[in-house]
Amino acid sequence: MAIYRTASVLVVVLVRVSSVPSSSLTNSRTKTARGNVLIYGPIIRVSPHEVHIVDLEFLDTIYSSSKARNKDPWRVKTLDVAQSVGDSADHELHRRRRASLVPFFSKPAVSKIERVIKQKLYSLHDVFDVYKFEGRPINLCDLYFGFTQDIVKNYCFGHDEELISDMGRAKQARNQLTTFMMHSHINVHFGWINRTLRKLPAAMLKFASPGLYEFQSFAKKLFGLILLVLDEQNKTTANRSDGHAIPTLFHELRDSNLLPAGDKTATRLLNEAILIVTAGSESLHKSLFIIHYHLLDNPDVLRKLRAELRLVAIDASWNDLERLPYLTAVIAEGNRLNFGLTGRNSRNAPHEDLKYGEYVIPAGTPMSTMSMFVNCNEELYPDPWTFRPERWLDGVANERRKFMMSFGKGARRCLGVNLAHMIMYKTIAKVSTYNLDLYQTDARDVIFLHEYMTAQPRLDSKGVRAVVKDTRYMDDCNKGFH
Ligand code: HEM
Repeated sequence: MAIYRTASVLVVVLVRVSSVPSSSLTNSRTKTARGNVLIYGPIIRVSPHEVHIVDLEFLDTIYSSSKARNKDPWRVKTLDVAQSVGDSADHELHRRRRASLVPFFSKPAVSKIERVIKQKLYSLHDVFDVYKFEGRPINLCDLYFGFTQDIVKNYCFGHDEELISDMGRAKQARNQLTTFMMHSHINVHFGWINRTLRKLPAAMLKFASPGLYEFQSFAKKLFGLILLVLDEQNKTTANRSDGHAIPTLFHELRDSNLLPAGDKTATRLLNEAILIVTAGSESLHKSLFIIHYHLLDNPDVLRKLRAELRLVAIDASWNDLERLPYLTAVIAEGNRLNFGLTGRNSRNAPHEDLKYGEYVIPAGTPMSTMSMFVNCNEELYPDPWTFRPERWLDGVANERRKFMMSFGKGARRCLGVNLAHMIMYKTIAKVSTYNLDLYQTDARDVIFLHEYMTAQPRLDSKGVRAVVKDTRYMDDCNKGFH
């Protein structure tokens, strides 16, 4: 593939996501990345067939909302769900699959499960109470993983595994996904390894690749749920434990007029389920524990948030909570430091040559960027590795919002933004009123140190842990709150 003027841009940049655990080093990492851009310029050919471009003004060209953009089929192998919406490399195929899901993720559709979230929040509260009673530290990473996976599964199928009431299973489910994600680069480069391993009998696979074995068990359970949906041909909604009949995502996909029969097979729907449940719980639980960590680590931020929350009812709706500027800023800042997809997320323009300055990028050339370059751009977000909600409250906030990459961009932007926001608003509003002390936890347990498709903190992290002191709605600065 010819890229004009390639000689001058033939520089391989290794954006080293250092494993050295200190915030000063994360700052130096940004400097290194920035330094590379200063030395080599914003466009770099990172492989024989891909260009990497660091330029805020070019983001909407790479991740266009209106023009055809394919994904690189070579890259979409991490989760091995090529038939899911997220990994549909071809633009038209992606468009069709996405259209079938869009109605489910609109604000009104998502609002219908506010009741489910309310119930889960009661369960969450109970877990905090149990830990308070027992005096043991609670692991917020496991807790939020169980909590979010329960909600997303409920949204998809009408019931869940109640991971939230069993922290052991929640931990296992989280570890299993993390282990699998840590193989994401191997899956991209050596996909045949997993394909071969999958053919092994379960007992051997468990021994040969525990991560893949666990992931297969997770997929098998989802497959059972899909078969159940396909069997219940005459039901349009699942029977819910709360007695409320709300259409579930997979019952509706099964009956969708927007999908051809070939897209409603058990295997294709399984691909979709793996993507949605994984994307939902992995990214969302991270934003929640990142935010909760920073609230506990920054008493001033927590105090301001609590003061604002006094303005709304204890049981405020998502709609009311969204109007609170400081809560909104806290959530935006947590999402920024989540980073979303952390790898080189490439697109190619199949039908048009593009121009970047003096360079012509021929049709079909993968163009990528990394969310870290945007979310930690020092001009846009000064002191980028610091959790500072105030940056979302000044005159430049809209500009910052326009660029932030955590939910991706363009026609393939995250479909779950509304669901994620509803859960975050309701959850953070509730848990920020509890009194907790961090336990043997520091910034290295939340900061982006390793790139495994999503941001991972230090590899020996035991998670964000805290001792629960009080779960009543009061705190030292707001005595008698509610
Ligand atoms: C804070 C939480 C979340 C973050 C940071 C996040 C991030 C992302 C990102 C970066 C993408 C773009 C992937 C790409 O460029 O290919 C994406 C896509 C997607 N996300 Fe999320 N996500 C979150 C929550 C959720 C939730 C709760 C769901 C659903 C239950 C969800 C479902 C999806 C789906 C289906 C796609 C594929 C969209 C498409 O390809 O058209 N996400 N997400």
